[in-house]
Amino acid sequence: VVDNLSAGHREFVKWGDFHLCDLGDMDALRAVFAGRNISAVMHFCAFTFVGESVENPQKYYQNNVANTLNLLRVMREFNVDKFIFSSTAAIFGNPVAVPISEDHPLEPINPYGRSKLMVERVLADYARAYDLRYVALRYFNAAGADPDCDVGEWHDPETHLIPLILDAALGKRESLAIFGTDYDTSDGTCVRDYIHVTDLAAAHIGALEHLGRGGASDVFNLGNGTGFSVREIIDTARKVTGRDIPIQEKGRRAGDPAVLIADSTKAMSVLNWKPAHADIGEIVETAWRWQQKLYREYKK
Ligand code: UD1
Repeated sequence: VVDNLSAGHREFVKWGDFHLCDLGDMDALRAVFAGRNISAVMHFCAFTFVGESVENPQKYYQNNVANTLNLLRVMREFNVDKFIFSSTAAIFGNPVAVPISEDHPLEPINPYGRSKLMVERVLADYARAYDLRYVALRYFNAAGADPDCDVGEWHDPETHLIPLILDAALGKRESLAIFGTDYDTSDGTCVRDYIHVTDLAAAHIGALEHLGRGGASDVFNLGNGTGFSVREIIDTARKVTGRDIPIQEKGRRAGDPAVLIADSTKAMSVLNWKPAHADIGEIVETAWRWQQKLYREYKK
């Protein structure tokens, strides 16, 4: 595990070696690769705040794009030829067709999404030119926590819907702000495809196995294929927690598409992947158990 701990947590590196290393430091990266027989790299590190990416694009292009080029360069130096990349539904921008399959137009509407799309383009060129095969996994809304509660979400600041709702249930915040109630959806709030992190993890194993058996470079959309509105998520959280969740209706947040739902049939057929935790009640329930543990054991 390589992390600069700018957003990650040392306590969560529970399996394998840990190297405190920034991808901007190529010599430190070379030292991690040296003397190891690395067969594949899974690349998760990136900045992910859409609003911040609009205000400070350099931060996003430097880390998400330039530092990824560093990593790919060091991989080439050490003849590591398999790469799994965390991409995102943000590369589609405002969808013109839902559910969103891999051939949907790629028109990201913020620097975060553009930084991820740039890396997808780089990977396609590198795979054509060099000895590299890759899989880009486009996550829809990553949600839930490890069912054993070993690891879960811990962001600072927290911006994601489900942990914010659970904070309101725990009384850690006064209320949950609903960003926009006038969208063209069944109840006026945004619809998203929430995919359990354990299912995302399983897709990475599937991608690794795909490359391991000689599979071609490819891109996959990862979601459950079902959308839930912000109000539906709040109602689910009320049922799961048995607590009151005060809400405040606010205006739209800039850059939010009304509906994002994945068509993941390609991942199902090529990677033999099938979500095992698709039930939204289970997703919120694992997040709820984790959020309570987070305050008990980490954010004391
Ligand atoms: C966004 C990105 C996604 C990225 C993720 C990581 C887009 C389209 N999606 O997901 O690619 O990986 O951030 O940060 O750019 N909401 C509220 N109140 C809140 C918080 C959120 O109503 O206090 C609503 C949002 O308007 C949205 C939904 O809840 O409709 C989910 O929001 P969030 O959890 O922030 O994820 P996305 O913005 O969908």
